[in-house]
Amino acid sequence: MEGVIKKGNAGWWDGSVGYEIYIRSFADSDGDGVGDLPGITGKLEYLSWLGIDLVWITPFYPSPMADFGYDVSDYCGIDSLFGSFEDFDQLIQEAHKQGLRVIIDLVPNHSSSAHPWFESSRSSVDDEYRGYYHWRDPTTDGKPPNNWVSHFGGSAWTLDEESGQYYLHLFLPEQPDLNWNNPRVIQEFDEIIKFWLSRDVDGFRIDVAQGLTKNMLMPDNPIRFQINKNMSPRQVFASFDHRYDLDQAGNLEIFRRWRNLVDPHDALLLGEVYLRDNDPNRVSRYVSSGDALHRAFYFAPMHVPWDPQSMWDTFRDALDAAPEDLSWALSSHDDPRAPTRFGGGEEGKQRALAYSVLLFFLPGLPVIFQGDELGLPSIELELEELADPVATRNAVETDGRDGARTPIPWDSSSGFGFTHGTPWIPIGNRSEKDTVEYQQKTQGSWLMQYQTLLQIRKDNLELDSPLRWVTARDSDVISFSRGGLISALNVGVSGQILSLPNGQWELAFHVGEVVLNDRSVVFAENSAAILILAS
Ligand code: NOJ
Repeated sequence: MEGVIKKGNAGWWDGSVGYEIYIRSFADSDGDGVGDLPGITGKLEYLSWLGIDLVWITPFYPSPMADFGYDVSDYCGIDSLFGSFEDFDQLIQEAHKQGLRVIIDLVPNHSSSAHPWFESSRSSVDDEYRGYYHWRDPTTDGKPPNNWVSHFGGSAWTLDEESGQYYLHLFLPEQPDLNWNNPRVIQEFDEIIKFWLSRDVDGFRIDVAQGLTKNMLMPDNPIRFQINKNMSPRQVFASFDHRYDLDQAGNLEIFRRWRNLVDPHDALLLGEVYLRDNDPNRVSRYVSSGDALHRAFYFAPMHVPWDPQSMWDTFRDALDAAPEDLSWALSSHDDPRAPTRFGGGEEGKQRALAYSVLLFFLPGLPVIFQGDELGLPSIELELEELADPVATRNAVETDGRDGARTPIPWDSSSGFGFTHGTPWIPIGNRSEKDTVEYQQKTQGSWLMQYQTLLQIRKDNLELDSPLRWVTARDSDVISFSRGGLISALNVGVSGQILSLPNGQWELAFHVGEVVLNDRSVVFAENSAAILILAS
């Protein structure tokens, strides 16, 4: 329309609520113990009922599964473990029929070492695919070319005995990093994106969006903290200033290029911008110009302790830096689940729900991780049950991601309705009360509260109303308004008082003990509320 300026990152995703499906552990339709595409199709009705608008499915491409699918050996295929193209098309069709959008996981930072590009690339220094990856000579004393480390432990370089050169991998040796300075790699991914758009996907979650381009001079990264052998891979990785391997300016050029591909299809680019220090200024660059990513995950809320000052720092700084275009998650398949992080037990669960009251009403895109809606804590597995390479390949086990990846308990039949076979990873000590079936018929259950919360969001959130903080940094109640709605979370002790702005406010939703008086609200500990201005 003439005279109307379309905001750069606006789209159908404004106002949407996302849901992450970790496919292996969601629903298994054929009894092989691994979740699959038809399994997801069978649960779309549930997701619609819950109030989800957008589903993100983790990788289902052909893969040796060294990193459970994040090691892709064919970007335009489907691993038979998860189903067929027919299953995929049916899933998309069904989802669209029910008004759900589907985004898929694009893994451009690295391929699998079993990808034909890499097999060719390693076959000879003169191979035409050699330049698809980063190959470098050893130092004069035979060491790796620089001090870069892998997220998953050890050097980021592996020596290929045959050619005498090292190749780069920021994750497992089975996940060689692609060379995004090579125009042929850029063109390959153009075709991959077009391929999936032609199959009607609604967008992409971009894995390791912060990592694609590298400084090609490959200098050593500066060291921030002294490293010792008792540190976990994550701690070692965080001990470096990733000045030359992550967050390089060239990443934005790639996303700008992809915007031209996805915009005509009205498809979403949602980036995993995982920067260890979670500096919001750096994350915001991926979205702020309005022509690169539409949304970027902001990870600080998944690590923040239950402490008012840390929460204020996390939320105020992020919203100052990127007021509209961040994506918020409570948990993911890479981190401990929120109830566990917040102390475990009933208190941890209550805190996770109270925290959702804050998180889900912020400007931007909230994404629920499967099982968050059931209040599930992480599962503690026995050493021999662990599957994640981060745990199984390292002597210091503190970072395994398996505890968040166990299957969803749908009902209390054997296999908890997840599978009629043997699950690929133990389901763990879930009880009947954890199941969807039980919670769906129990008033006041976590699931029913989530469903209500999402309905209130849908009915009352004025998307165009900017966020205004109702409390200040010295308050233990973190509260903001958007139009005629107030969200408030008490991170302090009992008895906190929130003074309300003028008007007649009604309590629409609360977690824990919350008392609404004439012009104020009193909060017990671990409580939260949504208030709505009566019209
Ligand atoms: C982020 C994904 O979420 C994680 O599961 C994976 O291991 C790494 N990227 C590497 O692809």
